Amino acid sequence: VAGLKIAVDGPSGSGKGTVAKLLAEEVGLPVLDTGLLYRLTGAVALQRGADLADEAAMVQVTVEMLDGLIWSSSGIEFHGEKWTDRLRGEEVGAAASMVAAMPEVRARLLTLQQQLAGSGCIMDGRDIGTVVLPDAPAKFFLTASVRERARRRWSQLKQMGRRCDFDEVLLDLKKRDQRDRERQHAPLAQAVDAIAIDSTTLRVDEVVDRMLGILERRG
Ligand code: C5P
Repeated sequence: VAGLKIAVDGPSGSGKGTVAKLLAEEVGLPVLDTGLLYRLTGAVALQRGADLADEAAMVQVTVEMLDGLIWSSSGIEFHGEKWTDRLRGEEVGAAASMVAAMPEVRARLLTLQQQLAGSGCIMDGRDIGTVVLPDAPAKFFLTASVRERARRRWSQLKQMGRRCDFDEVLLDLKKRDQRDRERQHAPLAQAVDAIAIDSTTLRVDEVVDRMLGILERRG
């Protein structure tokens, strides 16, 4: 599988992050979570108190973000500090989806994603199969019902000791879904050649087995 590129896209809470990691272990490829790039951009903007609706300011934040960034299979470092864990909250997720709607911000992040995918990887996000790696030979699109996705997010937040009102999590998720699907540039969408897997009633290992089966059949 050396050099193979696998795209894994899907909405928030579809389990793509967990599944991508496990699949990466199985096939021996690095895994890159592209959501972390948008999350770090959002987090830096929040930290600066910058206006999340101001595209020029967000492009500036993106440039600064890229300057201090190390992005790899083990997550994200910013100016030598590990940031992955503090990027998981809902506030950062919402900020990420706001900056992610800005074409100029996306353009700045695109090159980096394409460069790092160069030598083969599993990349997860929203537009990997459609925009970032349109030529990837294997593409998956993970879905699950919105209630199930909210339930997963809720239990994840609870485990991390974060805010955990279920209805609030459900509402946040719906808002983020809508923003990600309806934006003009690189919206969340299934690539025509992607294989959809609905994980509503599947365990993570069952999803991974299905993917491995599909990859094997394709050779
Ligand atoms: O996947 P995750 O929830 O970490 O992504 C956070 C936000 O980043 C998403 O809601 C989406 O707006 C944005 N994103 C994106 N394109 C990607 C990955 C994430 O627009 N490839």
